[in-house]
Amino acid sequence: MTPTRAATTLKLTRRLRRLRTSATMRALVRETRLSPDMLVLPLFVCEGEGVRREVPSMPGVFNLSVDEAVNEVAGARADGVNSVLLFGLPDRKDASGSAAHDADAPVQSAVRAIKRASPSTLVVTDVCLCEYTDHGHCGIVAGEEILNDATVDELVRAAVSHAAAGADIVAPSDMMDGRVGAIRHALDERGFENAAIMSYAAKYCSAFYGPFRDAAASAPKFGDRRSHQMDPANAREALREVEQDIEEGADIVMIKPAVPYLDVIARVKDTFGYPTAAYHVSGEYAMLKAAARNGWIDERRAMLETLTGIRRAGADIIITYYAREAARALA
Ligand code: PBG
Repeated sequence: MTPTRAATTLKLTRRLRRLRTSATMRALVRETRLSPDMLVLPLFVCEGEGVRREVPSMPGVFNLSVDEAVNEVAGARADGVNSVLLFGLPDRKDASGSAAHDADAPVQSAVRAIKRASPSTLVVTDVCLCEYTDHGHCGIVAGEEILNDATVDELVRAAVSHAAAGADIVAPSDMMDGRVGAIRHALDERGFENAAIMSYAAKYCSAFYGPFRDAAASAPKFGDRRSHQMDPANAREALREVEQDIEEGADIVMIKPAVPYLDVIARVKDTFGYPTAAYHVSGEYAMLKAAARNGWIDERRAMLETLTGIRRAGADIIITYYAREAARALA
């Protein structure tokens, strides 16, 4: 017979396990909750019609033509996801990334089509040149150098074209200095004072962007992104980046990637108390997918634990390729 009482009963003033005794009790004292409202689904918009091409290293993620992007938004809305982040895959690339500000390029066309079909969907657009330049760099290149101020001119043109198409939020991801202020100024001058800016404020030079560069065909042809993206070793510098973007007019600040930088998310949230987004990037998604496909982890639990951790660290907004799956799991 198993004894129900130990030989000695410990005299404890607190037994922390009491609050874990039932599902209802655990729900009652839960500190962190996830809601589909805080999730943003990234979409890769390409040219053509009826295109729905799965990205090999990102199962469940597709290159979508504008019509298919509209369908994807309808599916996302049915799952409870109301916000999307658009990336463009133009057929034509050149040295200055001129398709980035072309009113008829995939992103601008998708913004108009999504807003027409579903006006209350919140549309965020990524503002960068790397998907548009033939060399794959995030800016205008002279020799091996990425020119800051000349790049900002091009980013401003792209951001204005996104706002003109109807984007609610523009999200510069390039990490050039001064781009937030320049974009804010240009938007205001043209009457887009209600278009918000979500800056990729602390974007690290990360190995976890690999699958994205397959999806967007945006890997640099030479060199790397170390001259503008942040050194993974630095956290105090992230606070300076965030402070500067807030001073220049950012409405939302983002940290990217998410899981390797939870400390940075927490410090940014604690220091500034600003609307804070975290980008759970392609490589973070691909790792979970790969392990799940091998039967090595329980994907649903790993997904929700990961997103809960990002939220617990301080993120108000999570950009994730898991947005639809997570919203369904939370329903
Ligand atoms: C640049 C951009 C990148 C990502 C978002 N915006 C790629 C890069 O900096 O090389 C990565 C997103 C991801 O990995 O999911 N336009």
